[in-house]
Amino acid sequence: MILVTYQSKTGFTKKYAEWISAELKCDLKDIKETTAEDIKKYDLVIHGGWVLGGIINGYKKIKKYNPKKLLVFAVGLTPKKDVDADRILKNNDLKDVLFFYFEGGTNPEKMGFASRKIVEMVTKKEVTYQDNTKKSEIAALVRMAKEM
Ligand SMILES: Cc1cc2nc3c(=O)[nH]c(=O)nc-3n(C[C@H](O)[C@H](O)[C@H](O)COP(=O)(O)O)c2cc1C
Repeated sequence: MILVTYQSKTGFTKKYAEWISAELKCDLKDIKETTAEDIKKYDLVIHGGWVLGGIINGYKKIKKYNPKKLLVFAVGLTPKKDVDADRILKNNDLKDVLFFYFEGGTNPEKMGFASRKIVEMVTKKEVTYQDNTKKSEIAALVRMAKEM
């Protein structure tokens, strides 16, 4: 049995989580509603979290619950080709964990003032609606999950 958990603020990570759970025909749960008891029931947990300053949201909680097997995906604004995977691995203590990176987006309507300002500072441009998600990106993760 497989469970996909996600932590998403503006919906892009949730979209990937929904695609993955639909593809694997498995359960899906918001990390905020996920308990240690839930995690125990599954052979494999796939957790997706949006990246905040290099940290994958929700990963710490999932790790604490000690799933039997774990796959992680991070969703950020950084273009995939520019992602420093080593830094993400180190920042999040992801040693020995299978990890994927997907491109998310920005939705100013769902972002608070502070979030918008931070992203504007980093990207040096006004935050507009931008969706860089691509369903085809999940293929390798789905394949791996089926083999685990
Ligand atoms: C405060 C803040 C910090 C962020 N830090 C990063 C970052 O370090 N790296 C990155 O790639 N994206 C960063 N982002 C962009 C988000 O990860 C991106 O917008 C993501 O798609 C949001 O996912 P969600 O729609 O599931 O909430 C940051 C966004 C905010 C608001």
